[in-house]
Amino acid sequence: MLSTPHRGTEEFDREKPSAPGELGPTGRELRPVPEPLPLDRHGPATVVAVCNQKGGVGKTTSTINLGAALAECGRRVLLVDLDPQGALSAGLGVPHHELDLTVHNMLVPPQVSADDVLMRTRVDGMDLLPSNIDLSAAEIQLVNEVGREHTLGRALHPLLDRYDYVLIDCQPSLGLLTVNALACADTVVIPMECEYFSLRGLALLNDTIDKVRDRLNPRLTLGGILVTMFDARTLHSREVMQRVVEVFGDKVYDTVISRTVRFPETSVAGEPITSWAPKSGGARAYRALAREVIYRTR
Ligand SMILES: Nc1ncnc2c1ncn2[C@@H]1O[C@H](COP(=O)(O)OP(=O)(O)O)[C@@H](O)[C@H]1O
Ligand SMILES: [Mg+2]
Repeated sequence: MLSTPHRGTEEFDREKPSAPGELGPTGRELRPVPEPLPLDRHGPATVVAVCNQKGGVGKTTSTINLGAALAECGRRVLLVDLDPQGALSAGLGVPHHELDLTVHNMLVPPQVSADDVLMRTRVDGMDLLPSNIDLSAAEIQLVNEVGREHTLGRALHPLLDRYDYVLIDCQPSLGLLTVNALACADTVVIPMECEYFSLRGLALLNDTIDKVRDRLNPRLTLGGILVTMFDARTLHSREVMQRVVEVFGDKVYDTVISRTVRFPETSVAGEPITSWAPKSGGARAYRALAREVIYRTR
């Protein structure tokens, strides 16, 4: 059992808030993003697939913390755990191995409704559809279904009017579950570890997004590339960043997530960084990302 880290020590927070006109970590001038307006009604949701077939790049961390930051902006958020590892559920303190009903039951017969699986989280305004290892059977169970790529979309449909954002945490593969996420998403956010070899997989992912758009979901857009685990002190990080901006241009979010031990700490604590270490650079970064996401999906 890991010992719970101490809350509130801020010794790793090196990031300063940015001033207008200042060059951001991407090497570009920061584009101004207005404060999000409060909403007087909610829905229909923008569905965001958080996707990269590489593991350990920050998909789950970004889903939890972007979700919590959107909720802080008064948006109603639903997180969908679409990875049989259940890291999203665990990262929110849910004992997912003990659950009887999970996303798996929404997808395969005898299907239950999403409302039967839905859970509240400790974050106000943010709910969860949890998963556990049961979901690993779904890809095989769905193979012979008619319209198998739209199974998740059908299951989520009744909930969409209640939320402003649905964030789907995809598993590290481009298999049928991920295709289901892309087939019901409006937009894809791709977290990318700031590492040379990370660039290679992005061509294949882009290809998959194009195919899904052509064949299954014409409204699918590439929302943005989120660079994670950035370390401004290393030349390697800065060079990879430059290359990412060359390839993806405006699609790269100005917000960049630095490498900090606070994120692994939050997984142990089972809560988002916005409540675990609210003043940390990591919390500020995900709040800035939330503003960019709201601005770009308005
Ligand atoms: N910015 C970061 N700095 C340091 N560690 C991070 C950062 N983002 C995520 N991590 C850690 O890296 C590991 C993988 O992150 P995770 O979000 O689970 O990736 P994925 O869902 O893509 O597999 C986790 O232990 C997580 O706590
Ligand atoms: Mg994950």
